[in-house]
Amino acid sequence: MLDIQTNYSLKQLNTFDFDVKAKYYVAPKTEDEILEIINNEELKALPQFILGGGSNVLFTGDFDGLIIHPQIKGIEKIDEDENHVWLLAGAGVVWDVFVAYCVKNNWGGVENLSLIPGNVGAVPVQNVGAYGVDAKMVIDEVYGLYLEDGEPFCLNNAECEFGYRDSVFKNDMKGKAIITEVSFKLNKKPVYVTHYGNVEEELTRNYSKVNIQNIRKAIITIRERKLPDPAKLPNAGSFFKNPVVTLGKAEELKSKYENMPLFPVNKKEAKLAAAWLIEQCGWKGKKVGNVGVHQNQALVLVNYGGAEASELKQLSADIQKSVKEKFGVDIEPEVNFV
Ligand code: EPU
Repeated sequence: MLDIQTNYSLKQLNTFDFDVKAKYYVAPKTEDEILEIINNEELKALPQFILGGGSNVLFTGDFDGLIIHPQIKGIEKIDEDENHVWLLAGAGVVWDVFVAYCVKNNWGGVENLSLIPGNVGAVPVQNVGAYGVDAKMVIDEVYGLYLEDGEPFCLNNAECEFGYRDSVFKNDMKGKAIITEVSFKLNKKPVYVTHYGNVEEELTRNYSKVNIQNIRKAIITIRERKLPDPAKLPNAGSFFKNPVVTLGKAEELKSKYENMPLFPVNKKEAKLAAAWLIEQCGWKGKKVGNVGVHQNQALVLVNYGGAEASELKQLSADIQKSVKEKFGVDIEPEVNFV
């Protein structure tokens, strides 16, 4: 029996800590419960939003519809061979619980994605990434149901059309599907990725041995040093995506700003560091009313307490405007506005 709540506060369910309400809220624990929602004509008629860990969403006001908050749990080993193990995890599993489980078993592939907030179900949507690894490197298949008719789907890695913080779930399948489970292919003989940023330096400084347990510890230390804990200072991680520009544009900027970080993407494009662009515009550490730009990472916008979503929207727009004016570059939010 579905437990549908009305006028439900989402304060605990979004890491910006906005006290908005959902007209209806349901947290299905099984695929059957999701099917019940899909097959219910009254619920179907409502605007719907699927909420994961709430760590990448900006609620701009009360939600006049149904929030579906999948709570399918469980991690199961479904296959293995000499070199790999395949795990199936429920969309409602907390991502870092999954990472910790893999690391404990010495199955490599997700250790660089330690301490990223959110649930397993959101990981393929965003193609979550950090420290030289992204989810597409480990996702095998994504399972779910179409909201229209409850038909199940299973997409393999290529069919997910993963890109930088992007996938088919943010494009063709946006608003049309609900992810129930994700399978991952992990390495029994882990390959260490330590080249990104100061991972190598952190490892050699504090750990005598490189293994996935120590990589996880080093990444956690780096993240805790730079990124504010949403439980203490509400935020949604990177607020903007790093912009991809033409090589011509990148070179033009580089000739003017020698120290500008630049990451080649392909033969035609390069990625710029949004944090750097924002910092150069003088935003880093700036507080505006109840919101601001974090002092250690200019890509992170924070709610200092009691903020209205409109304040964050305004700050976001002001930052976009100044980056555009100074560098001629558009930066797009990574966070979903609802
Ligand atoms: N930088 C600045 N100022 C800052 C912060 C960074 O100039 O305030 C410069 C750094 O010096 C560096 C460059 O910007 O040259 C990139 O910085 P960093 O390595 O910290 O990563 P990022 O590009 O800002 C991305 C992800 C993060 C992820 C880190 C580490 C996006 C939108 N963000 O940030 O993901 O943790 O790389 O891999 O791609 C998230 O998505 O919520 C998130 C935190």
